[in-house]
Amino acid sequence: MQTITSIQALRSCIRQWRQAGHSIGFVPTMGNLHAGHLQMVNTAKQKAEKVVASIFVNPAQFGPDEDFNSYPRTEKLDQAALLEQGADLLFLPSVLEMYPQAPQTTITVRDLSARHCGANRPGHFDGVALVVCKLLNIVQPDLLFLGEKDYQQLTLIRRMVGDLNIAVEIHGVPTVREADGLAMSSRNNYLSPEQRQMAPLLYQALCTVRDAILSGDRDYSSIVDQQVRALQQAGFAVDYFNVSRSIDLLPACPNDSNLVILLAAKLGGARLIDNICLQIND
Ligand code: PAF
Repeated sequence: MQTITSIQALRSCIRQWRQAGHSIGFVPTMGNLHAGHLQMVNTAKQKAEKVVASIFVNPAQFGPDEDFNSYPRTEKLDQAALLEQGADLLFLPSVLEMYPQAPQTTITVRDLSARHCGANRPGHFDGVALVVCKLLNIVQPDLLFLGEKDYQQLTLIRRMVGDLNIAVEIHGVPTVREADGLAMSSRNNYLSPEQRQMAPLLYQALCTVRDAILSGDRDYSSIVDQQVRALQQAGFAVDYFNVSRSIDLLPACPNDSNLVILLAAKLGGARLIDNICLQIND
């Protein structure tokens, strides 16, 4: 596996692969890789001949009071894990390489970036859209792999790619969970041992809501409110918990069939998100 830090060198490598007729899969990450990221690389390997992963902690998607400086940076371990997983190339640019000057261009996927996580993290999704658009322009992959754990991010990037006619096929990769159900996330590192024991309550609350819906309950707000109260009593600060339409993340109506239950909550210093998709066929 090659590690490349400059855009120019990356482009020249990709050009050679293209000339040899290879298809290219791309897995963008912010590093501190866990089994969820490696699952994306693994899926990419099954679908594309060459796999590029990137590690870039993107300052544009962190708010002034967020964890940009303390975000875990574990490049050596990440490199070893990507090598073992069979990635062909790691793109590891510096902030200066990605943003040689403060960008004057903004990409806002309007409605999708304002809701849910966007309501609590102003500017976050503009930063995500900008960096993903830049990375897609740099790598020009055939296939893009993103985790379903960041469901709002996945939906928003699908929309951006459609709106801007970017020639890439997007694949959502299912969330990888710990044995107790907690969704794998780099931010789980912020949990104390006691908080780590409590964290699976989030997934349990999502499952309870899913099971109530599957057993016919369509009073989404009251099912969710009960779970919000239970989580608050356990010590979580719930940012949002709702049942939305999976296509556009608008509030779900009882006759919608494709749903996603979305949840974000803080536990100590960690802000955790999770979701479950479900289909109902009444
Ligand atoms: O999901 C992430 O790790 C980041 O938001 C992404 C897509 C790599 C953009 O910085």
